[in-house]
Amino acid sequence: MADDPDLNDAYALSSKEDVKALYRTWAHSYDSGFSDGQGYQLPRAVAAAFVSAGGKGPVLDIGAGTGLVGAHLRAMNVEPIDGIDLSEDMLQVAAMKRAYRGLFARDVTQPLGLLDAPYAGIVSAGTFTLGHVGPEALRHVIDAAAPGAVVVISVNAAHFAAAGFADAFATMRAEITNFKTRDVRIYDDRAAEEHRNDMARLVSFRKA
Ligand SMILES: C[S@@+](CC[C@H](N)C(=O)[O-])C[C@H]1O[C@@H](n2cnc3c(N)ncnc32)[C@H](O)[C@@H]1O
Repeated sequence: MADDPDLNDAYALSSKEDVKALYRTWAHSYDSGFSDGQGYQLPRAVAAAFVSAGGKGPVLDIGAGTGLVGAHLRAMNVEPIDGIDLSEDMLQVAAMKRAYRGLFARDVTQPLGLLDAPYAGIVSAGTFTLGHVGPEALRHVIDAAAPGAVVVISVNAAHFAAAGFADAFATMRAEITNFKTRDVRIYDDRAAEEHRNDMARLVSFRKA
């Protein structure tokens, strides 16, 4: 793996050990090199969509990484926020932002056995994406949500189609209400040309 990983390395991951190894190397440069350098605007879009859907704390941020979503939510006066992530190295960076009440090393593809569940809100940015997490984890998202909770998660648009997210959401129809999707650009014009127009589907709903 490259000393300074990039998006193509991330999209090509195929095991949890690879995920942990990549983010161990990436954690220290993720905010300045990747997020600022590539104009990564998805965390702000997820936080804003959560607030405009009426979302309130306590919130669980799934795949919190270095804490970008939590920082935006705190700036929008949402609290308390807990975060989970497979990578302890990423969570160590998130802790420095002082936006989270609790940060926990968890794998969202496994039962979370959580924490302060059920949550009044759930958010996730950049985690349901190529090489990362597929629709099998949605069961654990629903289980962590309180009745009426607002859920806003981004799903990489190519991954949404290829991994069968539409069918997965259809099977959950009885458990969710107010289901909406909206496509947004993941990056702004600072991104490398090959990813400049990559799209994410912002999926929002309430747990029934
Ligand atoms: C692209 S980063 C996004 C981080 C942050 N949400 C953001 O938008 O900057 C993807 C994150 O998903 C985490 N991740 C990958 N697989 C996971 C899993 N199975 N369970 C929990 N977190 C996972 C990675 O460790 C990484 O921090």
